Amino acid sequence: MARRPLIETAVFPVAGRGTRFLPATKASPKEMLPVVDKPLIQYAVEEALAAGARRLVFITGASKRAIEDHFDSDLELENMLKSQGKSDLVKQLHSVLPSYATCIYIRQPAPLGLGHAVLCAKPAVGSEPFFVHLADDLIDAEQPCLAQMAEVYAAKRASVIGCEVVPRKETDKYGIVEVEAPGVTARIRSIVEKPKPAAAPSNLAVVGRYLLSPSIFEHLERIGRGAGGEIQLTDGIARLLGEEAVYAHRFSGTRYDCGSKLGYLEATVAYALKHPQFGAEFRQYLRRVAEQKPARKPARKPAARGRKS
Ligand code: G1P
Repeated sequence: MARRPLIETAVFPVAGRGTRFLPATKASPKEMLPVVDKPLIQYAVEEALAAGARRLVFITGASKRAIEDHFDSDLELENMLKSQGKSDLVKQLHSVLPSYATCIYIRQPAPLGLGHAVLCAKPAVGSEPFFVHLADDLIDAEQPCLAQMAEVYAAKRASVIGCEVVPRKETDKYGIVEVEAPGVTARIRSIVEKPKPAAAPSNLAVVGRYLLSPSIFEHLERIGRGAGGEIQLTDGIARLLGEEAVYAHRFSGTRYDCGSKLGYLEATVAYALKHPQFGAEFRQYLRRVAEQKPARKPARKPAARGRKS
């Protein structure tokens, strides 16, 4: 009999409007932005499934229908592809979601923040620990980041937060943790949302990966609005710390902030370079582009004397 996974549920807060990526995200979700040939939310789901999750809970909001459509079966398209003999494409459609996975969609009634979004998942999560995955933080790692965190959970039986060191001047973009000892995995002493560099307790930042004890819900129910006037997950975790151990885990892998245009471009290049079908060809293309000398500007004629140029 297959062993029950340690962590069965993954929560994907996908209600945010993606304002850093406008106008691309005006009418379509930022989670549907493709990196090479898969939308960000597909990478997110694959990472959660690889860590053992089976129940996928999406916290959705306005103009996010495309996410539901992406994970739904599309018999019309399937039949069309079959009638055209394109069985390889039918296979690709089926690989979007394995049959053992269940999707649950919960609407966040108002954009009240990440902590509120996670609280919306409470009825679907129940009383077991669960993952939270922010799809715009794309992590390229040999062992998927959530699987690394599940291993930490197996050893510590406590909440785990995915972290990475960031430049000090960027602390005000992240939740920042202070840990009890240096190391890859360390118990968190304090956590604060988006502190100014001068006030930050460290430069160890929370990235969009959490493995949380269900006690987080009680805290999220009680906290008020925090940074930016929103109900912050970070504030709920700060309360949880008073009662339970919470660990920071410095994952191995490369994170791309795909909510920013530059981070998204970097991810696109990195994933295109390692694509099995055309990575090698793309590398050659990039080489050609890099080698191209900038087009020579035509020499400017000296302005004729006595004439206004
Ligand atoms: C959220 C969290 C923040 C975390 C970040 C990681 O912020 O509130 O603590 O560091 O995700 O991406 P957001 O980027 O949604 O403003």
